[in-house]
Amino acid sequence: MAKRGRKSEVATLDIPPEKVPTHVAIIMDGNGRWAKKRGLPRLAGHRAGTENLRRVLRACVEFGVEILTIYAFSTENWGRPEEEVSGLMNILRDVIDRELNELNKEGVRLQHIGDLSRIDPDLKEKVLKAIDLTKDNDNLILNVAFNYGGRAEIIHAVQEIVRAGHSPEEITEELISHYLYTGDLPDPDLIVRTSGELRLSNFLIWQAAYAEYYFPEVYWPDFDREEFRKALLHFADRDRRYGRLK
Ligand code: IPE
Ligand code: IPE
Ligand code: MG
Repeated sequence: MAKRGRKSEVATLDIPPEKVPTHVAIIMDGNGRWAKKRGLPRLAGHRAGTENLRRVLRACVEFGVEILTIYAFSTENWGRPEEEVSGLMNILRDVIDRELNELNKEGVRLQHIGDLSRIDPDLKEKVLKAIDLTKDNDNLILNVAFNYGGRAEIIHAVQEIVRAGHSPEEITEELISHYLYTGDLPDPDLIVRTSGELRLSNFLIWQAAYAEYYFPEVYWPDFDREEFRKALLHFADRDRRYGRLK
C-alpha cells in the first residue's frame, strides 16, 4: 500500500476529489451467512472478513479516503455464544500480532472507539501498544469500533461531562461531540452496511446525523475494491443539503 491517493489524484474513480468522502464507516456484516453458504463454521466467516480488511484498506488509500471506521464488535455481540465471542477476541489478538508491523509500515494510524475495560488485560495492552506505535502515521486513520455501542458512548460522554463539572449552559453539540469516543474526528460522510441489512445496530448514532447511507447486498468477505468503488460512486451522486435548500 504505497502512499498514493489523497484527494488530488483519484483518476481510477473518475469523480471529482471533493466528492470523495473523507470519513467512511463500515458495518462489516454478513460473515456468519458467508460461512454458512459455504458449509463452514461462523468463525471461518469472521476470519475471511478480517482478510478482506486488507483489500478495503488498500482501496481507501488508493481512492483518497482519509478515515475508515470499522464496526468489529458491538456491546450487544457479548450476547453471542461464548465460543464465538472468544473466537472474535482471538481474531483481534491475531490480527494485531500478524499485521501490526505491516500496517505501521504503510502509514496506517490505528485508533479505537468503545470500552476496553471489559476486554482481557493482555488484549487491552496489545491494543493500546498498537495505538501508541502508530500514533504519528498519517496515511490513513483506521478507527476500530470494538466493544462499541452508540448508547454506551453517549452515556460515557455524559458521565465525563458531569465529572468535568460543566454547567448546563456549556452543553453544546461541539462539547458533546468532543466527549464521545470519536473525540475530534470528523463525523462519517458515508456509512456502509454490507449483507443487505437496513439498520444501524447502535453504530455511531450521534455522529451519523447527516451521514449518507449505502447498503450493498454482498456479505462483508465479498466486499472488494470494486464494491468499495461502487459505494464511492453512489456517494458522489448524493446531494447533501443539511436541511437547507440548494
Ligand atoms: C458481522 O458478521 C461481524 C460481527 C458482528 C462480529 P455477523 O457475525 O453478524 O454475520 P451474520 O450477520 O450472522 O451473517
Ligand atoms: C452489527 O452487526 C455489529 C457488527 C458488525 C460488529 P450484528 O450482526 O451484530 O447486528 P444485528 O444483530 O444484525 O443488528
Ligand atoms: Mg450480523
